Amino acid sequence: MCEAPANGRPNMAPVYPQAGSYPEFAKLVDRENGQVDRRVFTEEDVYQAELRQIFARSWLFLGHESQVPGAGDFFRTSMGEDDVIVVRQRDKSVKAFINSCPHRGNRVCMVDAGKKSRGFICNYHGWSFGIEGSLRGTDGKVYDKDEGFEKSQIGLTPVAQVESYKGLIFGTFDPDAPTLTDFLGDFTYYLDIMLDNDEGGTEFIGGSIKSEIDCNWKFPAENFVGDILHAFWTHQSGAQAILGGGVDLGARYDELAFQASVYGHGIETNLDKVGNTRTLGYPDLVDYVFDLSEKAKERLGEVRARAIGAVSSATVFPNFSFLPGQNTFRVWHPRGPNKIELHVWTLVNKNAPEHIKEQYRKGVMMTFSPGGVFEMDDGENWEYSTRVNQGFVTRQQPLHYALGMDTSDLERDLPGHIHKGSLNDANQRLFYTRWAEFMECDNWTDLQNAYTASPKKSDQAAE
Ligand code: FES
Ligand SMILES: [Fe+2]
Repeated sequence: MCEAPANGRPNMAPVYPQAGSYPEFAKLVDRENGQVDRRVFTEEDVYQAELRQIFARSWLFLGHESQVPGAGDFFRTSMGEDDVIVVRQRDKSVKAFINSCPHRGNRVCMVDAGKKSRGFICNYHGWSFGIEGSLRGTDGKVYDKDEGFEKSQIGLTPVAQVESYKGLIFGTFDPDAPTLTDFLGDFTYYLDIMLDNDEGGTEFIGGSIKSEIDCNWKFPAENFVGDILHAFWTHQSGAQAILGGGVDLGARYDELAFQASVYGHGIETNLDKVGNTRTLGYPDLVDYVFDLSEKAKERLGEVRARAIGAVSSATVFPNFSFLPGQNTFRVWHPRGPNKIELHVWTLVNKNAPEHIKEQYRKGVMMTFSPGGVFEMDDGENWEYSTRVNQGFVTRQQPLHYALGMDTSDLERDLPGHIHKGSLNDANQRLFYTRWAEFMECDNWTDLQNAYTASPKKSDQAAE
């Protein structure tokens, strides 16, 4: 219960949840043996702990600066299961609020996005809020006559911190969370493959596509963090249908391939120049990425320049993923242990020619949208994994994440936990290790010093 202030009116200051510690859930991940207990995907108790330990604390992806160019521009999204509004302020900063009226909890913003809003009005009893979240007015009849009604004490609950990294906006409900760049750690080095390969910066184009998949949110997150392995099996027939040829991830690429992981954020890449971009089906795009890659060597160096369009995938812990080269960015919003709401965008360089932007937009829709060939391939697998894991006897059996347990690549001088080869479960083990760290740790000092932090190269020899 909130303490009542001296005037007898309720205290309406924001309340942010405190983290606990769930060592019994952390034990469901066995890093030493490369096993994950299936109960992490099925149990309601585990899911509720995820909302508290992970989604109420982590920096979560909200959107791109290009979605809210001017004051009053806004969009609606989620942080975990919490509905939020993200809105550009008059001072150019971006703020975010829980999209729920402090009166009876109704949504104050019903639409997905809008421009130049001066505020939000609740449908239920007419309370209205400014874009900075304060209560501006009521219905003008009842509340204003209530002596002691403290309008100035009431407002939308703000997301505790909002920050951007090179155009991407993130928020956290935890006032004690470290800065966004500390949370991302050395993973910014890999984010720059997409966000900083050209001096003009990036933008989202074509709106966003939303769909639901009946799967646990961690299946897509772990798939994108480091499961290229599935591509030449799951996507083989789709690739033949759409491209006229299969997916080739043979030995010729594996020499250069590596996985990198920092704080559970991970990227896997084969460095095969434009493998991902080729799947979009436009020769012009392939030429564009070849040129871009050449020019980007100065900004990013040889390795990251090669990764721009390569067969690769990435996840920012916990639930924000992207595919370099196919340029699809996506969030797997949890909706219970067995369902996600998927939001998808297409990212392009602002300086790219218009016909290139248009080819990216159409290419993403053909491959990674609800009607896209590869999205459908993936979604079916994640739904079956989720459904079958619910069997009572089935969920007593651990799952195998032990591929490449002994690999590491100490010669490659890159930030993070580096493992050689793409046919390896290393990034997935580190994703679940980070999951376990969030379950167990009740403070950020321990979280930021945990095993998944970037190792010093001298320590890495012992891995
Ligand atoms: S619920 Fe919003 S004004 Fe009553
Ligand atoms: Fe896939």
